[in-house]
Amino acid sequence: MSDAFGIRAATAADADAVDAIVRTAFAGTDFGYQGEAGLVRMIEAEGDTLVSLVAERDRAIVGHVLFSRMDVEADGAALSGAGLAPVSVIPERQGRGIGDALIRAGLDALREQRVTISFVLGHQSYYPRFGYSADLAARFASPFAGPHFMAMMLDSDAAWPLGGRADYAPAFGRMG
Ligand SMILES: CC(C)(COP(=O)(O)OP(=O)(O)OC[C@H]1O[C@@H](n2cnc3c(N)ncnc32)[C@H](O)[C@@H]1OP(=O)(O)O)[C@@H](O)C(=O)NCCC(=O)NCCS
Repeated sequence: MSDAFGIRAATAADADAVDAIVRTAFAGTDFGYQGEAGLVRMIEAEGDTLVSLVAERDRAIVGHVLFSRMDVEADGAALSGAGLAPVSVIPERQGRGIGDALIRAGLDALREQRVTISFVLGHQSYYPRFGYSADLAARFASPFAGPHFMAMMLDSDAAWPLGGRADYAPAFGRMG
C-alpha cells in the first residue's frame, strides 16, 4: 500500500462510502454530532451541491469535501457563493495533506464554475492557509457570524464587497 492518493468527483455510487467517511471523521471531534453525514445527502437531494470530491487511496475512499450553493447578497447584488462543509478525512490518514488537496481542488472547481465567493465555518488555524479570512466574512450578516466564520474571494484580485448577507443552503437549517 502506498501513501499516494488521487482526487476525483464523487458519484452517486459513492454515497454510502462518503457517509461512512464523514461519520468516522466527525466521531472524534468536539462537534459531538453525527448530523454532517445526513447533511451531505440532503444537500445532494435538494440540488444544492456545487462540488463534491473524494480522495481515494488504493481504490478506497479516504476523504471527502463538499461545497454547496449559498444565497449571497453583496453591496445590493446577488453573488454566486459556495459554502465549504463538511470536509472529512479518515482519522488514520489525517495530517498527510489529503484535506489540503481536497480543499484546493474544490476551490479550483468552483473557480471553473465562476463562483465568486466561498464561506466556511471552522478552525481559525486551518482555513486561512487557503485564503479564507474572518475579516471578509465579518462584512456579511449570517446566523454563523463570529470568529470561526471565514470567507474568501475566489479571484484573489477581486475587491472585497463592503457588506451583505450570506445564507447556507436550506439543509443546514435542519441540522441537529
Ligand atoms: C480537518 C481535516 C479535514 C483536515 O484534513 P487533513 O488531511 O487531516 O489535513 P492536512 O493534512 O491537509 O492538514 C494538516 C493540518 O491541519 C490541521 N488540522 C487538522 N484538523 C484540524 C482541526 N480540526 N482544527 C485545526 N487544525 C486542524 C493540522 O494541525 C495540520 O496543521 P499544520 O499543517 O499546521 O501542521 C481532517 O483532520 C478531519 O477530517 N477532521 C475531522 C473532521 C473535521 O473536523 N472537519 C472540519 C470541520 S471544520
